[in-house]
Amino acid sequence: MSIEFSAKTKRIPVYPVAAGYDLGAEVAMLASNEAVFGPLEPVIEAARRAVVGANRYPDPSYMPLRQALSERYGVPWERIALGSGSCELVMAAGEVLLEPGTEVVYAWPSFSVYPHLAAASGAREVRVPLTAEAELDLDAMATEITVATRLVIICNPNNPTGTALGVGPIEAFLERVPPYVCVILDEAYVEFSLTVGDPHASLALLDRYPNLVILRTFSKVYGLAGLRVGYGLGGSDAFRVAVDQVRQPFYLTAAAQAAAVEALRHQDEVERRVSATVAERVRVTEALRARGYWVAESDANFLWARLAPDGDDGPVIQALADRGVLVRSGTALGGPGFARVTLGTPAENDRFLTALQSSASVLKEHV
Ligand SMILES: Cc1ncc(COP(=O)(O)O)c(C=O)c1O
Repeated sequence: MSIEFSAKTKRIPVYPVAAGYDLGAEVAMLASNEAVFGPLEPVIEAARRAVVGANRYPDPSYMPLRQALSERYGVPWERIALGSGSCELVMAAGEVLLEPGTEVVYAWPSFSVYPHLAAASGAREVRVPLTAEAELDLDAMATEITVATRLVIICNPNNPTGTALGVGPIEAFLERVPPYVCVILDEAYVEFSLTVGDPHASLALLDRYPNLVILRTFSKVYGLAGLRVGYGLGGSDAFRVAVDQVRQPFYLTAAAQAAAVEALRHQDEVERRVSATVAERVRVTEALRARGYWVAESDANFLWARLAPDGDDGPVIQALADRGVLVRSGTALGGPGFARVTLGTPAENDRFLTALQSSASVLKEHV
């Protein structure tokens, strides 16, 4: 006889984790939307200094990081929720907002953690299909809001498609959302978005919509995915208070906090990383389109490309893996026939393009 787990646990979909972490430097890791840029030396040094005091629990007020974010974004610290990655805040949002009889609305395909929420809470989920251009359909999302809706998630730029909307359409959408519904605007990739403009562009929305939470992370452009730091900027302090109620007090390590504070001081480096990523985004998109592949208009550090028009992306994903290039299967992410390809270094991106060419001639899947 084995342990009998709860019905809720059995319902929760298994997160499609990327493979290849054990394969080392031989492999181009283009499957997890991480930054190719490692932490800067002063960031590593800040984390190292924090580790010296690791016999103590971290300061549970997390004030240095809250204050650094508050100064950078002009949002009072009381409205800033912190988390062990923004993923933790997505899950905590589900815990404080959803229960049987309530509803959560999000686009699909979108970030693969969102399906966890309805399964874990017993809420009903409404997945709204993207447009033919793989963009969010905010009109269709607005019409799905009912008296039972407690949470709407807008991922902008959207993972896995990379497409982004400007602040104007998002504001028009927020106008249509009743004030009892929490809207999470998941901006994990906002720094890379030319459509949004810059990471300050959406912040004015917080002054007008107390039900809005803008979710951000240090895992992408700041290159700290392994340290797990995310944050939510709220239109009021309500979200921060609620999510702090349902979590353990020590969700951020002292090293993670110190590294994040230091990383915020290097905005020139953020700009350099964004420019390098945008240049590669344009180059790889054009190379794929020149070969006849459909590629979504990406505003992020990854591309969404239809590599298998027959809908079976398995063989091409495997052929790429056989050539040492790991990308994410669209099937696992809600888009059969597609692949999500994280932009790596120019050399890694070239390796992907070369591997795709040789795979395509073997598989005869070229469009
Ligand atoms: C859209 C989106 N939101 C949130 C996250 C979570 O990031 P983290 O938990 O590393 O902050 C990710 C990570 O891939 C993401 O793609």
